[in-house]
Amino acid sequence: MPATVLIGAQWGDEGKGRVADWLAGQCDVMARYAGGDNAGHTVKVGEREFKLHLVPSGVVHPGVRCVLGSGMVINPLRLVEELDMLAGQGVDVSPERIHLSVRAHVITPGHLALDGASERARGSSSIGTTRRGIGPAYMDKAARTGLLTGQMRDPDEFAAQVKASLEGANALLTRLYGLEPVDAEGLAAQYGAAAARLAPYLADTTTLLHDLLGQGQRLLCEGAQGTLLDLDHGHYPYVTSSSATVGGALTGLGIGPQQITRVVGVAKAYCTRVGNGPFPTELFDETGERLRNAGHEYGTTTGRPRRCGWLDAVALRYAARVNGLTELVITKLDVLSGLDELKIAVAYQRGDQQLTALPLFTPDYESVCPVYETLPGWHEDISAVRRFDELPLNAQHYLRRIEALVGVPIRMVSVGPEREQAIELVW
Ligand code: GDP
Ligand code: IMO
Ligand code: MG
Repeated sequence: MPATVLIGAQWGDEGKGRVADWLAGQCDVMARYAGGDNAGHTVKVGEREFKLHLVPSGVVHPGVRCVLGSGMVINPLRLVEELDMLAGQGVDVSPERIHLSVRAHVITPGHLALDGASERARGSSSIGTTRRGIGPAYMDKAARTGLLTGQMRDPDEFAAQVKASLEGANALLTRLYGLEPVDAEGLAAQYGAAAARLAPYLADTTTLLHDLLGQGQRLLCEGAQGTLLDLDHGHYPYVTSSSATVGGALTGLGIGPQQITRVVGVAKAYCTRVGNGPFPTELFDETGERLRNAGHEYGTTTGRPRRCGWLDAVALRYAARVNGLTELVITKLDVLSGLDELKIAVAYQRGDQQLTALPLFTPDYESVCPVYETLPGWHEDISAVRRFDELPLNAQHYLRRIEALVGVPIRMVSVGPEREQAIELVW
């Protein structure tokens, strides 16, 4: 039965949470397949605003079951905090509807400390990570030395394993980085307590998803991060350590490609990036500042100001190919109101060469600059528009131009953070 994958088509923070909320009405189960609490997904429903880091955004819809899949890395303390926060906002967080894979990996306080230590050691070439321990946790996974969430079934034994793991991390922190060790004993006890809270949520989520799909239930795989932050397909090393692209949904959830009928790419009507690395269309002038202020472009997870720039059709075309996007959602179109002109990068210039495909080797970005197409802007406030043909003509033209440049049809356009601030396009 059908599965839809929702993918960030840029550098993260495209509005996946709000689009997942829109798609939640068309699904029975929502699953996160990669990443950890480096993600920050915002869902606004009237006066209530939810900032989700680990639990799929569908949790806000009472009828939707939520799965935290095997491809994720989980900080148990943060998950307990998030469940408590949701319960405090009146959301049902019972283990009957939220399921945590026994095969996800655990982020320990050692991973957090090592993330910070390696960033500091990189100095001016730091990645600008969220410092949530993501890289070190996936390092342990690949080295086959990680702790699995399933080990939380026995909280005492789990605490002992966390303590042993922290002692290993302490050896690195003190000997390699010359830093203070973390409090292995005290933190292991906190992890044991969190394990006792989370044990009822543990499940064989692969079998569960297959059973639910077999019963005809509709699955939405909620991506985190974005295509250009993908470990294999992003701007390495300025990437996260997981598979944010469509392949990550297959490996992270244990489903087959024939299950997937839709791949929805979410892109902002402009671009933002938080953290370091290539960003050819970045604006350092007052237009960039204007986008940051109008779009409230500050990280959901870290509060850092996001770098802002023009829409990059080269990058979007790449995202369409790498993920096999079947449709696009464009968010934050309202933020562009009031600009006389808009620019879209349609190619990159390197010397006397025009590149229409994205360079894959990051050092090559030092010598590329964007080739822009300029389109007329609009000044109307569009946040109350609900039909495509009610948008200013220049806004319609901008969207149609994106479709033509990327070669993927737009299915929805959002004109504000609220659930109803959406324009559905009928094909
Ligand atoms: P995600 O990580 O992809 O889920 O995105 P974030 O939640 O980190 O960042 C997107 C931000 O933009 C959130 O604060 C949303 O509430 C907000 N947002 C989403 N769609 C729109 C929109 O169409 N217009 C405006 N103005 N804000 C939006
Ligand atoms: P959502 O799901 C934006 C970025 C970090 C950094 C790089 C590596 O909300 O879109 P990490 O902590 O993962 O090792 O950091 O990836 N990054 C994100 N940027 N949105 C995110 O998630 C991100 N998750 C990681 O800023 O550049
Ligand atoms: Mg985010």
